[in-house]
Amino acid sequence: MIVLGIESSCDETAAALVNDKKEILGEALLSQEEHKAFGGVVPEIAARSHLDHIDGILEQCFAKTGLTLKDIDAVAAASGPGLIGGVVVGVMTAKALSVALDKPFVAVNHLEGHALAARISNDVTFPYLLLLVSGGHCQILVVKDVGQYERLGTTIDDAVGEAFDKVAKMLGLGYPGGPAVEKLAATGDETRFTLPRPLIGTPDCNLSFSGLKTAVRKIVETYSPDGEIAHAYIPKQDIADICACFQYTATECLCRKLGKAVAYFKQKYPSGRNIVVSGGVASNTYLRAKLKKLADDNGLLFAAPPIRFCTDNGVMIAWAGLERFRKGFVSPLDFKPRPRWPLDADAPKAAGAGGVKA
Ligand code: KG4
Ligand code: ZN
Repeated sequence: MIVLGIESSCDETAAALVNDKKEILGEALLSQEEHKAFGGVVPEIAARSHLDHIDGILEQCFAKTGLTLKDIDAVAAASGPGLIGGVVVGVMTAKALSVALDKPFVAVNHLEGHALAARISNDVTFPYLLLLVSGGHCQILVVKDVGQYERLGTTIDDAVGEAFDKVAKMLGLGYPGGPAVEKLAATGDETRFTLPRPLIGTPDCNLSFSGLKTAVRKIVETYSPDGEIAHAYIPKQDIADICACFQYTATECLCRKLGKAVAYFKQKYPSGRNIVVSGGVASNTYLRAKLKKLADDNGLLFAAPPIRFCTDNGVMIAWAGLERFRKGFVSPLDFKPRPRWPLDADAPKAAGAGGVKA
């Protein structure tokens, strides 16, 4: 069984071919560079760029595989949540291929792509506890099965990746900010500044990063002679120290709330074995190390996708598409792309119950 997956929900145009033996048969990805000058993704520019590049990415994905379009069994596309102009490009491409090839179309929730990605290269079985941390989302979930999620907590304001990006911007480190902050944090003193840890003491698993970001802004402002944000005035070592303190505090917040979730997970899902982290921020090796310790301390196994499959990519969409397809969940061709699509919104339905059986 071979599934083609297309990703176009933010600023990566990507496609991949995977099979049910967990082999990645083909892969192509383009990270749009056009947004760098703006310090964030510009939706209209992203949509146009997806349109310009999707055909070339598909060609590249098949190149050297010895496969043709006729060899695939289904075509999947990230169909939300995301920037709708870009999502539409991927979805329409997948639907067109589906019609032309007479192969099923599988609408994949982008978040489910992140959620299931760790299962490609790890022996992760359902149910598992998931920390999903990206530029747009920050959630703690139990993944009960394909399409079945119990959400235990979420951010009430900024996503943690967004906070990394905003801190990086304040410090003049460019976009995306996460990798730059992580690199500098490695040379910084994480005890230098005490930063707030919003919601740390609440009994739920919710998170908040807006106050943490504002606290960093206030520190940055103290360096500026006229009170404006001016990273040019901050000594290099101080920038590293700020990065280290921010990364330490954000990680502490994530681990504390995940710790609460672990207690619930172990009690309600005693057969569960894994703590999984995924999404762009899961590339952060400092966070991965802390989560591994949390898992070890609780007698659970830590798993994460390889770093290159943490940020958006086509492989995770192809894989999630395959997981859905082999369960019999395919989508009608009038499926509408969804700019908002919570993972726990709807479980997949078999034929006759709103979905279409493959
Ligand atoms: O999953 P992703 O590629 O896109 C979304 O679905 O949002 O995640 C992108 C986010 C950005 O906010 C980026 O700064 C963050 O992931 N990120 C990191 C690291 N690498 C990427 N954050 C912290 N440390 C990293 N090494
Ligand atoms: Zn993503």
